[in-house]
Amino acid sequence: MSEIKWLTVIIMLYFCVMDFVYCQARYSIPEETPEGSFVGNIANDLGIEISRLISGKARVVTKGGRQYVELSRDKGTLVVKERIDREELCKQTTPCSFSFDLIMENPIELHRVTVEVQDINDNAPKFPKGTVNLQISENTEPGARFPLDRAVDFDVGVNGIDSYSLNPTDHLKLKINNDGDGEKHVEMILQRELDREERDELKLVLTAYDGGSPKKSGTMQIHISVLDANDNKPVCKETVYKSKLKENSPAGTVVTAISATDADEGINGLVSYSIAQASEEARNVFDINPDTGIITTINTVDYENKRMYQINVNAMDNGGLADTCKVIIEVIDENDNSPYMQLMSFSNIVGENSPVGTTVAVINVEDADSGKNGLVQCKINENVPFKIESTLSDYYALITDEILDRENIAEYNITILASDQGSPARHNNKTLNVKISDVNDNPPVFSSEEYKTFVIENNSPGVAVLTVKASDADWGPNARISYFLEDNNIHGNPVNSLISVNSESGVIHAIKAYDYEQMKSFSFNVTARDGGSPPLSSEVTVTIIVQDQNDNAPQVLYPVHTGGSVVAEIVPRSADVGYLVTKVVAVDVDSGQNAWLSYKLQKATDRALFEVGAQNGEIRTVRQVTDKDAVKQKLTVVVEDNGQPSRSAVVNINVAVADTFPEVFSEFTDFTKTNQYNDDLTFYLVLALAVVSFLFITTVVVIISVKIYRWRQSRIFYQSNLPVIPYYPPGYADTGVTGTLPHMYNYDACMTTDSRKSDCKYSTLGGQSVLVMDPSFTETMQRAMRDKAFQQDLDSPEVVRK
Ligand SMILES: *[C@@H]1O[C@H](CO)[C@@H](O)[C@H](O)[C@H]1NC(C)=O
Ligand SMILES: *[C@@H]1O[C@H](CO)[C@@H](O)[C@H](O)[C@H]1NC(C)=O
Ligand SMILES: *[C@@H]1O[C@H](CO)[C@@H](O)[C@H](O)[C@H]1NC(C)=O
Repeated sequence: MSEIKWLTVIIMLYFCVMDFVYCQARYSIPEETPEGSFVGNIANDLGIEISRLISGKARVVTKGGRQYVELSRDKGTLVVKERIDREELCKQTTPCSFSFDLIMENPIELHRVTVEVQDINDNAPKFPKGTVNLQISENTEPGARFPLDRAVDFDVGVNGIDSYSLNPTDHLKLKINNDGDGEKHVEMILQRELDREERDELKLVLTAYDGGSPKKSGTMQIHISVLDANDNKPVCKETVYKSKLKENSPAGTVVTAISATDADEGINGLVSYSIAQASEEARNVFDINPDTGIITTINTVDYENKRMYQINVNAMDNGGLADTCKVIIEVIDENDNSPYMQLMSFSNIVGENSPVGTTVAVINVEDADSGKNGLVQCKINENVPFKIESTLSDYYALITDEILDRENIAEYNITILASDQGSPARHNNKTLNVKISDVNDNPPVFSSEEYKTFVIENNSPGVAVLTVKASDADWGPNARISYFLEDNNIHGNPVNSLISVNSESGVIHAIKAYDYEQMKSFSFNVTARDGGSPPLSSEVTVTIIVQDQNDNAPQVLYPVHTGGSVVAEIVPRSADVGYLVTKVVAVDVDSGQNAWLSYKLQKATDRALFEVGAQNGEIRTVRQVTDKDAVKQKLTVVVEDNGQPSRSAVVNINVAVADTFPEVFSEFTDFTKTNQYNDDLTFYLVLALAVVSFLFITTVVVIISVKIYRWRQSRIFYQSNLPVIPYYPPGYADTGVTGTLPHMYNYDACMTTDSRKSDCKYSTLGGQSVLVMDPSFTETMQRAMRDKAFQQDLDSPEVVRK
């Protein structure tokens, strides 16, 4: 460099014009020469002695401005005093030089020195702005021009701006136009269309080169923002959005967010969302935020109603370009439905003894939920003899698990609990009331194993003596008990001639008066039968113990009363005191106290002579018999029993006090004659004869009358259809001749031909019992002769009619 400087240095022009010496010197140095650099040997060039320079005090005088060059007096050379910048000194003027004068004194000498400053390429081209920002709309047509600032280079000439280059040049090309004024206009021409969406910004570098050597350059950044045009439609990020939504989610639940992108910018890229296509149902449930694209619920969804929704969402930019995406919303089931039970069939009455496995009810169970939430299981409460089984899916059968016993538990409340498998599970229940119907499986049971009762004899017929009671654990007709007398013979009598049972109440009535003397007790069986089909029955033995009543007077067995003969006991006159005359023997058919007899002397011809043993009935003398005692002695002895009231019998005893039989006999013919008894007998005989005669005549008259009457009747009512009610004598059935005649008929006949006032309550046993009363009647009549009271009791129509 310095070499080149020195080579290019000095061309010296040299003029010497003198008055005083006036010479001119001219030098040329490149700008930016360092301080102290040699500019020219002015002493040589001007032919001035160094000593003259010193003595003349030579100096450099610059008129105004800066002094770039100074004189080195002792060497006679000019050196650079200050850095010289050509551009500062001359701007763009060329050539560029500065001048100064070299003045010496003694004498004054003036030399003009001109120094031309040569340009060196010390300035790089420079753009006014380091960066320019351009905005180019993306759909600008190719060929469009974009002027640029020129670069400036303070150097001149060849060191000035020489060329430009643009980089890169894929979209824009540089064009330099030479103006008329020699200025260069720099502009870019759009080569091909910009796409903001491809590149929204271009960064170009414009470089200006100068022509110096070496070349210097300056650059300018060109930032091109590609302006958007609405050339892009929004694009959904996904074409199909899938989302799941729990049913019953509250309104406002976010379902999904749709996002569409628009490659455009600003308002052109602003996408708004709307529901384009959806069912009415979907529109009622979902809403989309137009700005954010968030789909929320505005209502609850019900899985059981709809399981899937499809919505088409429109994403539209402001320019009206749109894209559509599909949103599929799957509803997720929640366990929001309880199982539902429906009774398909139900028999609320189940027979006891039904075989195990008898179906009581069939239940249909459903749950609107799906999956586990809809999986239902049924259970029933424990401790019931039933179980529940699944027959078909969704169908359950309630069946018996044990043999049922109505007598144990007659009714069950069965709660069927249906639960689904959801979490938490939902339940439902149904209570069935099952009644167990009765089967006749229990026989009647008597309240007592056997019955025993006491009846005092001579009871009034029809009296209730005892009530048997049986119970039956069954129900209704199966527990309705009827009582029956078991057929049996008691002491030769059919049992129903003695006793009757009220079939409904179980009250046992005596049919007749009992006689302790004939029958001290008797047993019979009563059957209790329920109303089931077939009926069940049980038997109980009833014992009736007849209790004695003092109804029999003592009977004197000895001495015996015989017809007309007079019997007398003979007491010899020689008899001692305490001689046993006779013994009154009496019996009483009653028993116990009622048969406990005592004897008393009631009357005696001579009371002092005899006494009667109170206990044994022995008649003894109490004193010595004397001659004065009458032959004929009459004693009346009373025999009494100990009953309450007591009954008694009287016996007359004739005693003859004599030593010989003739004596006795003569005395006792008187007894015979005066015997009132014989008189009475005669009277009765005569009376009887008269009565018999009377009855015969009456009978004859009656028979004739009846014959005449019937003859007339048959003529009057010949064509009458009136039933002829036959009359059967009461003894009729006994004879056994009319075996073919139904007993009931006989009974009816009795009832019809007789007045209704009859005490028919014993007749509940049927006609049979009425008729078979006959044998007992015979007995009764005999008793009736003895016992007036009994007569009244038996004074029933049937009896009287005989
Ligand atoms: C069954 O339920 C009914 C009505 O709730 C009630 O009256 C009856 O006593 C119950 N029966 C049983 C055996 O629990
Ligand atoms: C049966 O359902 C009723 C209401 O429907 C409820 O009150 C009761 O608790 C349920 N019983 C059981 C055993 O779940
Ligand atoms: C009465 O019933 C009992 C059983 O209770 C039986 O042993 C007896 O033989 C029956 N008597 C008659 C007479 O039927």
